Amino acid sequence: CGIVGYIGTEDVKEIILTGLQKLEYRGYDSAGIALYQDESDFEIFKDKGRIAHLRSILEDVPSTLGIGHTRWATHGEPNKVNSHPHTSSNERFVIVHNGVIENDDYLKEKYFSNVEFRSETDTEIVVELLNYYFNKYGAVDVAIRHLMNRLEGSYALGIIDRKNPEVLYAVKNKSPLLVGVGDGFNMIGSDAMAMLHRTNSFYDLEDQEYAVIKRDSIELYEITGAKLVKEPFTSNLDPNDIEKGTYDHFMLKEIDEQPFVIRRIIQEYEKDGNLHIDPEIIADVKEADRLYIIAAGTSYHAGLIGKQLIENIAGIPVEVHISSEFIYNTPIISKKPLFIFISQSGETADSRAVLVKIKKLGYKSLTITNVEGSTLSREANHTLLIHAGPEIAVASTKAYTAQIAVLSILAYMVNEDNEIDLHHELSLVATVIETLCDRKELMEELARKFLSETRNCFYIGRHIDYYVALEAALKLKEISYIQTEGFAAGELKHGTIALIEKGTPVIAVISQEDINLNTRSNVKEVRSRGANTLVIALDSICAGTDQVVIDDVHPLLTPLVTIVPIQLIAYYAALHRELDIDKPRNLAKSVTVE
Ligand code: G6P
Repeated sequence: CGIVGYIGTEDVKEIILTGLQKLEYRGYDSAGIALYQDESDFEIFKDKGRIAHLRSILEDVPSTLGIGHTRWATHGEPNKVNSHPHTSSNERFVIVHNGVIENDDYLKEKYFSNVEFRSETDTEIVVELLNYYFNKYGAVDVAIRHLMNRLEGSYALGIIDRKNPEVLYAVKNKSPLLVGVGDGFNMIGSDAMAMLHRTNSFYDLEDQEYAVIKRDSIELYEITGAKLVKEPFTSNLDPNDIEKGTYDHFMLKEIDEQPFVIRRIIQEYEKDGNLHIDPEIIADVKEADRLYIIAAGTSYHAGLIGKQLIENIAGIPVEVHISSEFIYNTPIISKKPLFIFISQSGETADSRAVLVKIKKLGYKSLTITNVEGSTLSREANHTLLIHAGPEIAVASTKAYTAQIAVLSILAYMVNEDNEIDLHHELSLVATVIETLCDRKELMEELARKFLSETRNCFYIGRHIDYYVALEAALKLKEISYIQTEGFAAGELKHGTIALIEKGTPVIAVISQEDINLNTRSNVKEVRSRGANTLVIALDSICAGTDQVVIDDVHPLLTPLVTIVPIQLIAYYAALHRELDIDKPRNLAKSVTVE
C-alpha cells in the first residue's frame, strides 16, 4: 500500500491524487482520500479500483488538508468498506495505513470486545486504539506514543484529528515513510516519488518515530517523546524519470532503457578509468567463506545469475535463497558468512525479515538495490546501488539486468587476477541490448505466432540459461496470465513432458557452447510430441532455423542479452491480449508485507 498526505494552503485534491498515482506500484486494488474543510465538512471518498476511478468519484470539496491511500489488500478483500481512510467509531480520527498489524486480534479482544467494527482490516483497530488512548490521556501526541507502544507489526500512518485542522501526524515502524518539506506546506508520503511534484526535500522517519506536521513547521519525535534534530536530505530523482514520455507503457520504456542503464553502471562504478567498488565491501566479501544471496521474485532470479558470476569469477561459494523461505527454513550457516540482499525497491518485507534475523545473529550484510536510503539499504552494513532509475512497471526488467551487471562488477573486483576485460564486455552487452531493442517487430511477430492462442507455455534451458528460463516464465505469466513454467531442459523428460500437446509453445534459451547440443536434443524431443518450438540462441552456436539470434557476448554475461527478447515477447503477448501491462492483476511492485 502507499500513503500520501498534505497540509498547506492550496487545494489538496490534485496534489494527493498525483502522489497516489506515483504510488500505484505499491498496490492498486482500492483507493481512498480524506479531504478536510472544517469539522462539518469532512469528506471521505473511497472505493475498490484504481486512482483513476477514485478521481472519477471525487466531489469538489475545497480542502487544504488531506490524506490518501492506494491499497494492496492483506486483511479483507478489496472493497469499499475495507478501503482506507478509516475513522474511529466516533469519527474523530481519520487514518491511512501501510503495513500489517500482527496483534490486531489480541487488541480487538482486549480493548474492543463490544465494539462493532465496520471493516475486516487491521487498520480500523489502530484508529480505534488511538481514539481510546486519546480519551484516556487527552492529548494526541501522548495517544500516539501509547499506540506505538501497543502495536506490533509494521505501520506507516497518516493521521488527521478532526478537531484540529492545523496538524497532520505521521507515524512509522518498519514501513517506509518520508516527510516532504515545502514552503508554506508540508507533506508525507511512502516514498519521494509521491511528493516530487511538490518538493525534493525530505526528512527520513526511522522506525518508532513520529512527526507533528503543520503548514509551516515539522517536528520529529522518538517514541519516548524526545524531540529529534535531523537534517532534511535532497532527492536527486528526476521527475521526468517517472513519466512515460512517448511510450504507451512503462514496461516498454524500461526495457528500452537497459543499454543506458548498463552504461550508467559502468560510469558510476568507474574510478580513474578502472572499475571500482568501495574497498571495505570487497574486503568483507573476500573474508567470507560463503555468500548467502537473499531475495524475492525477479531479484531472486538475478541472484541465481549472481551465484554463477561470483563462483566462476571470484571463486567464493554462494547459496541463493528465497527470502520468505530462508526465514523459517534456515540452512546451516557457514563460519564466516556474508549476506547479500538483492532488492529493486529495498523494501520487500520478506527480505527485511531475514536481514533483521541475521543482524541479530551478528552477521554482516550488503544490500544491492535501486533505491538509495531504502530500508534494506539503511539497515545493512553496505550498499551497492544499481542506478537503474525509477522502475515503475510491476514486471521488473531494467532492475534485473542492472542487478546482474552490478553483481558482475562485484565478482570481478573480488578477484583482481581474473582475465576478463569487464569494462569492455559490459559495453559490448549494452550495444547488443540496443540492437535487440531495435528488433521489436520480430518480437511482436513471435509473440503473435507462438502465444496469441495458448493457455500455457514452457521456457527451457540448461546451466545459466535455466536461470534465465525461470525469469522468462515469471515475466510471461505475470503480465500475460499465460501459465508458464521455466524448466531445466534435461529435466523435462522426467515427468513434465507429459504436458506437451500439439501446439504447446516451448521456448528454448541456448547461450552456452557446452550445453548447446543437449538443449537442442530436448527441443527435438518436444517438437516430435507436437510442441511449437522457438529457439533464442547466441550467434556462434546458432542453427539456421533459430528464430532469435543474438550477437555474442562473454559467456557469463549472456543472461543480460538473452532476457531482452524474452521481455519483449512477454510485453507483446500481454499487449495482444489487451491486458493492463504495467499493473497486472493481483500484484504490487513493492510488497511490504510478509
Ligand atoms: C514483487 C514484484 C516483483 C519483485 C519482487 C521483489 O513481488 O512484483 O516484480 O521482483 O516483489 O521485489 P524487490 O523490490 O525486493 O526486488
